[in-house]
Amino acid sequence: MLHLMSATRHLHNLALIGFMGTGKSSVGHLLAAQLHYTFVDTDELIAQRAGKSINDIFAQNGETTFRDYESAVVADLAHLSKTVISTGGGLGANDANLESLKQHALVVCLWARPETIWQRVGHQTHRPLLHGEDPLAKIRSLLEQREPYYRKADVLISTEMRSIREVSLQILHQYQSAQGRPVHG
Ligand code: S3P
Repeated sequence: MLHLMSATRHLHNLALIGFMGTGKSSVGHLLAAQLHYTFVDTDELIAQRAGKSINDIFAQNGETTFRDYESAVVADLAHLSKTVISTGGGLGANDANLESLKQHALVVCLWARPETIWQRVGHQTHRPLLHGEDPLAKIRSLLEQREPYYRKADVLISTEMRSIREVSLQILHQYQSAQGRPVHG
């Protein structure tokens, strides 16, 4: 669903927000290929800027520094066009970041249940927020905290029981219809 708001927006990018493991990178790569857009991933931009991995930023500098990197990268994204932007899971759970993205992109949030997320990411090690004793409980509590922000996306799409291709097709339809008529916000 597309929420209509007040001032006219110029949508020349597509931004994917949502929790870890909801498929932002996979869906984003496919969308970029289908639209003939460039693909960027905010975690990759941050790692380049910091000269170290996301794990190392968290371990050596802490989460606050990482969030500062996210805000700086979000500001730079405003200069892009014809780009699919995949974001780290916490980036879209922030009003200032969301507002900034909405200036130039249709903001799509990908959604999944905590159990599904855990199945998808449980074998991976590059997510510092899930390195604690009870990662599923951590996923549940973070998802609950972030849900009110994620719901502010222009479009909210469940990735439960859907393939990457199905999800991307649905997003393409939303993006094309959002560009075909005035979108406000
Ligand atoms: C984070 C999600 C990660 C990465 C960092 C923090 C989060 O990105 O930005 O580990 O706060 O949810 P993915 O959503 O791509 O895993």
